[in-house]
Amino acid sequence: MNPSAPPTFTQDELKTLVGQAALAYVTPGSIVGVGTGSTVNKFIDALATIKDQIRGAVSSSEASTQRLKALGIEVFDSNSVPELAVYIDGADEIDPSGCMIKGGGAALTREKIVAAQSQKFVCIVDDTKLVPVLGRFPLPVEVIPMASQRLIAQFAAMGGSASVRLRDGVPLVTDNGQHILDVIGLRITDPLAFETQVSQWPGVVTVGVFAHQRATVCLAGSAQGVTTTNFQ
Ligand code: A5P
Repeated sequence: MNPSAPPTFTQDELKTLVGQAALAYVTPGSIVGVGTGSTVNKFIDALATIKDQIRGAVSSSEASTQRLKALGIEVFDSNSVPELAVYIDGADEIDPSGCMIKGGGAALTREKIVAAQSQKFVCIVDDTKLVPVLGRFPLPVEVIPMASQRLIAQFAAMGGSASVRLRDGVPLVTDNGQHILDVIGLRITDPLAFETQVSQWPGVVTVGVFAHQRATVCLAGSAQGVTTTNFQ
């Protein structure tokens, strides 16, 4: 074994590292905004180790709520908490300005709501999620089911190929009772304009571009450890 070689981590270990690193952004006595996904699950596990130092969490999905409660962390209704100091969540992609694609876990609508009520968005990822331009990952869009075919045509007109996300052969139904379109073939060079445009299409509940609610900080795990990027 070469002692000067950098440590190698599995992707799962990188998620654990960034999940633990995110604890540094949790203020004692606060209610924490909690995202969804395999990386956030590591954060929730870390949060449980300091659960006596926080009041609780606002959760972005039924899955995270279940995990938080199982670990003894109180979950508050988002309507009962006017503002959160910090929201901690993963991403499917993040670009050099902190704009993200999210929704691989179908929780994008509640994620955007909790992000919007938080002063700071701490994005936790492994370095496979860092991209120069958004669009390699299929873009999730939560839609009202009766609008699906019209929206698929609208994405086709801008060069994207959209399909309804299936689970066990039938359309996946989100926590909000809606469907998800996954759009491939897009290169999102102006995420803010793209999010503004697509959000206005009738039938779109939430587009998975997070530019208006972009990250304020990104903690990225790599072979070198955790790299922190603060965005302006
Ligand atoms: C959930 O809907 C997503 O926005 C997740 O935050 C995103 O898919 C990242 O998930 P992983 O941490 O599991 O990669």
